[in-house]
Amino acid sequence: MLLLLPKHMGNEGYKDIIESQSTNYDKQRVKHYFKKTFSFFLSLIPEGSRVLDVGCGTGQYSIGLAKHGRPCDGVDYSRKMIEIAAKNAQSAHAACGFALCDVEKGVTLNGPYDYALFVGNWEYFDNPCAVLRNVSSVLRPQGSIIISTPNMLAYPIIRWLELLHLKMAPAFWHFHSWRKSIKKAADGAGLRVAAVYWGFYGLDRVYSLRKNG
Ligand SMILES: C[S@@+](CC[C@H](N)C(=O)[O-])C[C@H]1O[C@@H](n2cnc3c(N)ncnc32)[C@H](O)[C@@H]1O
Repeated sequence: MLLLLPKHMGNEGYKDIIESQSTNYDKQRVKHYFKKTFSFFLSLIPEGSRVLDVGCGTGQYSIGLAKHGRPCDGVDYSRKMIEIAAKNAQSAHAACGFALCDVEKGVTLNGPYDYALFVGNWEYFDNPCAVLRNVSSVLRPQGSIIISTPNMLAYPIIRWLELLHLKMAPAFWHFHSWRKSIKKAADGAGLRVAAVYWGFYGLDRVYSLRKNG
């Protein structure tokens, strides 16, 4: 049972791990996961919307969105990831802007954005409420935040995939992907949970948050 518990390193510790995985990140990406999640995000984000890809990694979601008529910028706190994202966008002829930025501390791009998208990083933040506050400050008044995060009930399955080396990044540490934790962080940031969806065969849940008022 102890094997199933992840080692807790905090958001700064995660940065070292993700930096060490950055050059292989795209090679090891599960294509089926990307395809399925990407088409779901496309269905949630109307064409023409301006999007901020938060924790964009190698920029594949940003590039895909930009190529599908949703102008998209990306931010990430890993310099290596941002460099790879910029190269990927150049090769794909996608006009995305990428900026180095730790979203726990603030967002260095101005926006305003219609949507902010979080894929695969919510579970690693130390202070999710501060992250939502920072990201929401660059959203339009009617803006939305989409968070795709593992379904906590699927945690043992996800952890086994990791132990069998079938999943690259380490499983989440902070356990604030429960619905009530997300609601609490949203409340603290002046946002409300507008909708919740099942994602990727039930292993993920996708939350849509909106500004109050
Ligand atoms: C598992 S990767 C997912 C990358 C990308 N969203 C994707 O799905 O391909 C998580 C990303 O979140 C970024 N990240 C984690 N904490 C962050 C923070 N505090 N500020 C900015 N980026 C962060 C990491 O550097 C990493 O690139």
